[in-house]
Amino acid sequence: MLKDLVRRHRVIVCVGSGGVGKTTTAATIALWGALAGRRAVVLTIDPARRLASSLGIAELGDEPRQVAADLLASTGKPVRGSLAAMMLDQKNAWDRLVARHAPSAEVRERILRNRFYLHLSQSFAGSHEYMAIEQLCLLCESADYDLIVLDTPPTKRALDFFEAPERIRDFLDRKIVRWFVMPYLSQGWAAAKAMNRTVGFLFRKLEEATGVSALAEVTDFFAAMSGMFDAFTARTDVIHGILRAATTAFVLVTGPEEQVLTEAEFFSERMRSLRMPLGGVVFNRVHEELSADPAAFPGGTVTRLDEETVRTALVAAGITCEHLDWLAANFVDYQLLARGEAIRMEQFRAGLSRRVPFVTVPNFDSDVHDLVSLTRMHPYLFGAANPADGVESRPPRRRRRPHG
Ligand SMILES: Nc1ncnc2c1ncn2[C@@H]1O[C@H](COP(=O)(O)OP(=O)(O)OP(=O)(O)O)[C@@H](O)[C@H]1O
Ligand SMILES: [Mg+2]
Repeated sequence: MLKDLVRRHRVIVCVGSGGVGKTTTAATIALWGALAGRRAVVLTIDPARRLASSLGIAELGDEPRQVAADLLASTGKPVRGSLAAMMLDQKNAWDRLVARHAPSAEVRERILRNRFYLHLSQSFAGSHEYMAIEQLCLLCESADYDLIVLDTPPTKRALDFFEAPERIRDFLDRKIVRWFVMPYLSQGWAAAKAMNRTVGFLFRKLEEATGVSALAEVTDFFAAMSGMFDAFTARTDVIHGILRAATTAFVLVTGPEEQVLTEAEFFSERMRSLRMPLGGVVFNRVHEELSADPAAFPGGTVTRLDEETVRTALVAAGITCEHLDWLAANFVDYQLLARGEAIRMEQFRAGLSRRVPFVTVPNFDSDVHDLVSLTRMHPYLFGAANPADGVESRPPRRRRRPHG
């Protein structure tokens, strides 16, 4: 169960492949924390519209917003803490980053209006991830929250997120920047490419990353930005500190499907090598396997050959409709699906350290997009419907430097 994990950490980062339930899990963990007495905040990325509106963040904002007390009370649970939520807006976050670090209003305006910047802030690979972590940084520095739950963007292999700070740092590396601000580069692409293979390579990369090929804009951008690079570099160090702190835990959310689990395996390996090991695993949307009665199903599990047995059981239970064959076949199909998932999850677990807690959450009959339905996940994640049930839940002691 994840109860202790949430109790012992200040920052929980939900990671995983696209569409597996990261946003939902992040929201439900923060809600649990709030019910347990924590001052919780969830930073969501692209939540389903209904989830956003039930968290009271239908519009993007610059700051986390407190979820209204009566909304929290609508869960029917005693509320001992508070919950805030924020939806991350990439573009806005970049602009704020520039505004914070720009040495003067004039430079700020020059950067914000630059076409290359507009592309970079909207489409540079890794920029979404970087801004999510940047926002995490801000929340960590504020003393307003003692549980910070970060949702992460869907990424192809769910990894870009953690490599983003490095990638941006490489990108902003001053050695590279110097190439751009060298005056001769303003002569144009052809001259620059001829000058040096490295420069040509960098420009190609830049073009690929941004789709912008106007060299003058790029050069101007870097000239305007050059004073800000030190601040950015210092920032990535802080970010590393937070991601590797003992008070930060990563929760991998995954589905039980083969392809998703393969990605999850790769991901968990990679996280280990980045020295950010998993703190917990959530198998979400799992089909529940019936514990088959050995008297009825001698193999201990339901197999394709059992359709007749199921049919007989249905008739014995008084169910005699025209769809009986279909019902029996459907039940067997479901059980085969559930068995396959159970085997795959077992294999996945075998590769994890035994200390890593894992939980399974069933595939509910409807989407999870309001506070009440979020609480449906609590018994599966935490082993109790209320934080007050069972082990006491209290916030971890604040460290002097939360990301130290
Ligand atoms: N256990 C569950 N049972 C039923 N529906 C679920 C469950 N968990 C999540 N969902 C639904 O699945 C959909 C996807 O969930 P969610 O948005 O949390 O995924 P995600 O990993 O954040 O996706 P993305 O990678 O696109 O950001 C949502 O509509 C959510 O309500
Ligand atoms: Mg999401």
